[in-house]
Amino acid sequence: MTLSTDPTMAETLLADRVRTARSSEVRKVFMASQKRGVISFAGGAPYLGVLPFDRLAASARRIMAGSGAVSLQYGASQGIPELRRHVCALMELEGISADPDDIVVTSGSQQALDLAARILVNPGDVIFAEAPSYAGGLAVFTGYQAEIIHVPVDGEGLVPEELEQAIAAVQTTGRTAKGLYTIPNFQNPRGINLSAERRHQIGEICRRNGLLIFEDNPYGLLAFDGNTRRAIQPDFPDITMYFGSFSKIIAPGLRLGWVLPPAGLYSHFVNASETTLLNPPVYNQQLLCDYLDNPAWKATLDESRGLYEKKGAALVEALEQAMPAGTSWIHPTGGFYLWLTLPEGVDTGSLVFECIERGVAYVPGTAFYADGRGSNELRLSFCLPTIDEIRKGGAILGQLFREATEAGTACAAATDDRPRNHPGRPSKTS
Ligand SMILES: Cc1ncc(COP(=O)(O)O)c(C=O)c1O
Repeated sequence: MTLSTDPTMAETLLADRVRTARSSEVRKVFMASQKRGVISFAGGAPYLGVLPFDRLAASARRIMAGSGAVSLQYGASQGIPELRRHVCALMELEGISADPDDIVVTSGSQQALDLAARILVNPGDVIFAEAPSYAGGLAVFTGYQAEIIHVPVDGEGLVPEELEQAIAAVQTTGRTAKGLYTIPNFQNPRGINLSAERRHQIGEICRRNGLLIFEDNPYGLLAFDGNTRRAIQPDFPDITMYFGSFSKIIAPGLRLGWVLPPAGLYSHFVNASETTLLNPPVYNQQLLCDYLDNPAWKATLDESRGLYEKKGAALVEALEQAMPAGTSWIHPTGGFYLWLTLPEGVDTGSLVFECIERGVAYVPGTAFYADGRGSNELRLSFCLPTIDEIRKGGAILGQLFREATEAGTACAAATDDRPRNHPGRPSKTS
């Protein structure tokens, strides 16, 4: 059968939920930043230079030669049992006690988030999320026509009182709130942690109000001090879906993550995963298991953490030297990201392609809000570039934003002739 090739005709057949979807700002920036020589602070990509590629190659060959007919066959929808055992051992570090039969292995945690939205979200349902939050997570929920309501955060993460108020406001409208999407460790994009006390308060608030918690935790093992924090899941297993990933701690190209859902949702996750994927790739899972079987992987992770700490510090130093007065950021203590707030009026979205022209890519802040906020904010991901690139990139960013701030000040001065005191030079917070 031949469908019309007329794109407008094809577009008229789109499902309602697709019509309202925004195209990914991160993707546009990512595409533009692929140009040779551009220093990219844009994607949340890990540095893979620490991986033992020779050992991985030998392992890949051994697996294929020894069990190729299994590796290349369809497999269990929940993932292979060996990998689910490794997942349970990893989660124990965060206080989670789970059985391999409670886990569904997915194609990255992104697929697991999609499955969660697919089985839980009806059009018009409300999902609460940190302000700002991971663009890919927001896209999943809005893709299933949820309404995102952002909840304010401070230096200790999401503010429980603000969550309570937001829930109460939704309740008065008669809409259904389904849950809270939170990234408690080294949050994407702000890089902060939800304090232990707040994890508890937030869990209690959600339970009291009949809300689920979508606990998304790809960065939990990436604290620069090597300490892992207790997850929300162990204290609220009846209402928490825990999402894990091997992308940031090992390699995203394997596309392996997992979900630990509350018991009542398990079969729904398996069914939904079967309809989208049938099963996660067996060969990738075997390769990952072989890698995890050798305790040397932990030393490799330590090495990455050490490197990321140095890169984060280099970025902070570069920003301190280069950014205009009135810029603030949070000093990273783990994970991949540094969140930058520029003076009011600087529009990071309209400057991003000029910045790429000058050789540096970042993601504008608006990508991390579902409601258009964030125009004077941006996210920098510091794990992939080298320290030299970070220094150079920081200087280019500083130059661009100093120019933008000065142009803005000049503009405001030209249109505002009221007498004023000299505002002085506000300090940077780090
Ligand atoms: C908070 C968060 N969740 C989920 C993902 C998706 O990760 P993956 O699908 O590679 O496991 C990312 C990737 O950047 C992320 O930052």
